[in-house]
Amino acid sequence: MARPKDRHPQTAEGDWYVDTLCIGCDASRQVAPGLIRTDDRGRSVFAHQPGNAEELEMAWRALLVCPTRSVGNEMLSRPYPAKYPHDLGDGVFRLGHNARSSFGAHSYLVARDAGNLMIDSPRWTREVYGPLEDMGGISDILLSHSDDVADAERYADRFGARVWMHSSDSEGTPFATDLLTGREPFKIRDDTLAWPVPGHTEGSVLYFVDEHLLFSGDSLAWNPHRGELIAFREACWYSWSEQRRSLAEVAASGPRFDRLFCGHGWSHDSTGESFHTLLGSLVAKMAE
Ligand SMILES: [Fe+2]
Repeated sequence: MARPKDRHPQTAEGDWYVDTLCIGCDASRQVAPGLIRTDDRGRSVFAHQPGNAEELEMAWRALLVCPTRSVGNEMLSRPYPAKYPHDLGDGVFRLGHNARSSFGAHSYLVARDAGNLMIDSPRWTREVYGPLEDMGGISDILLSHSDDVADAERYADRFGARVWMHSSDSEGTPFATDLLTGREPFKIRDDTLAWPVPGHTEGSVLYFVDEHLLFSGDSLAWNPHRGELIAFREACWYSWSEQRRSLAEVAASGPRFDRLFCGHGWSHDSTGESFHTLLGSLVAKMAE
């Protein structure tokens, strides 16, 4: 739970607050845009108190997504209401409960008759595995790269799920059952395509579902302020030139996605044509 004694001095006056243990991962701002803002050091604070039912929902989602449990309400105690999995449409759900070990990366569930997919992992909690049991469990865990594994092993054990990952990132993940190799796209099943994109890490992978939903891990994200696709040069652990080459290949021959779901960074919906143009622009900029 958040710590009232560590309440951030810049968070808006009122019951909802953020404490100073926030690591500035951006997750709470992404689920509560406008309600939560950054301070001058990149940490989160409430811009104002929730003023209507929609903002109250956002505040709860921020509380439950925060990996350091830095979002709180001085008047409330557990049990908290269930706000995840959060239905994002197309059978995609944000799982919330982001893990500190993955620096607050988002994870997702894709609910399908062929078997539910978990993309990257939240922290291990009944608040996730309980609802997942009600939704039919998970058949496959798709890991985008080594940073965002979190508690995937416990979810795999619980549900008997296969775990997919690229061999170049798998050293710390001995429980992965299916290792991808090389740069060639690989069809995991009829509706799911794994596309290796070495760059952010050597074994980073994009996952396309139903040809138009893209789960990008930390290889690609949306910048809502500039209205463009971005890659994280300051957080590129393997090779920026390889990341550019990888994204150029996606732009040249990848599926035309219209929904982007990120590990870190902002997710976004657009048209396939628009994203295709923006991806081309990003690749050109990455050469500068
Ligand atoms: Fe990462």
